[in-house]
Amino acid sequence: VWILDQTRLPGETVYLDIDSIEAAVEAIAMLRIRGAPLIGVGAAMSLAAAAKRAAEARAVQTASAAMEWVESAAARLAAARPTAVNLGWAMTRMIRRVTVMREQLPAHDAGSTLARMLREEAQRIWDEDAAMCGAIGRAGAALIPPGTRALTVCNTGMLATGGIGTAFGVLRTAFESGVLEHVYACETRPLRQGARLTAWELARCDMPGTVIVDGAAAPVMASGRVDVVIAGADRIAANGDSANKVGTLGLAMLARVHGLPFYIAAPTSTIDPRTATGAGIPIEERGAHEIGVPNGVSAFNPAFDVTPAGLITAIITDRGVLEPPYERSISEALSAVAAR
Ligand code: MRU
Repeated sequence: VWILDQTRLPGETVYLDIDSIEAAVEAIAMLRIRGAPLIGVGAAMSLAAAAKRAAEARAVQTASAAMEWVESAAARLAAARPTAVNLGWAMTRMIRRVTVMREQLPAHDAGSTLARMLREEAQRIWDEDAAMCGAIGRAGAALIPPGTRALTVCNTGMLATGGIGTAFGVLRTAFESGVLEHVYACETRPLRQGARLTAWELARCDMPGTVIVDGAAAPVMASGRVDVVIAGADRIAANGDSANKVGTLGLAMLARVHGLPFYIAAPTSTIDPRTATGAGIPIEERGAHEIGVPNGVSAFNPAFDVTPAGLITAIITDRGVLEPPYERSISEALSAVAAR
């Protein structure tokens, strides 16, 4: 698996060759590959690549050894980052695939069959994610009136997903249909995914955009330059509370104060029906070094925050635009996914 190292963008284009679980865990934890849907796709592909390497080394022989290998490797990958549910969701799918097809694993030398099963499922996850991005883009663009100036946070585009993106996919689709006038991209402290990555995507798509520091979101909204705020999500609870990059909660509050719609855009794979409310979403805390405080001074560096459902105008998904009350609209959307 070749991954574009996003920590080096926009200055350098560096690809890394990932063929072990350790390398994949490092790449996910260090945000070389990031964005909720993409870490699911990347972990699935890495699991398949590591299985191929294990098969070549004849390290997996029996069907039960194959099951043990995939369960242990998937658990290590799933633990690389805690908040984005897509990671655990993708790993559960990979294990389920092998479990369902267990009869097809040969009694001896099961490794290459295991690697093939995992490769096929990883490709399916990737293809489905790309299709979900397209559907989110179309559903969201229909909500954008002509001449709209949108504000967004973090990076939710092709660098963060297997397709055109979620929130960014909506913006891109709206731009291509001629209704989006401008994008304000919040810098996104501390790792600057907005200033480095969303800006890179805006330039590649020839979309009109302006990067602002996170603290400028309030005055930019207060001066009437924004019509809509749209963000991605890392995990959406059953009641609609949505975790996303830290700073999103503040933007939702600002949108409410200024009477602006605040949309979350995410695939149904980001909805976690087993987490009842935002209080149950694990929030990743990262090291003080990312903030750059001097030794001896403590730092609190949560990577995400939770926007309560009450501040979210609608959740744009691949199953359509979900409206409050979210307990009902989310449960209906997930039943439609299960019935597919
Ligand atoms: O820490 P990151 O860069 O992985 O955080 C990413 C976000 O918060 C995105 O908004 C979210 O994953 C949705 S990406 C389509």
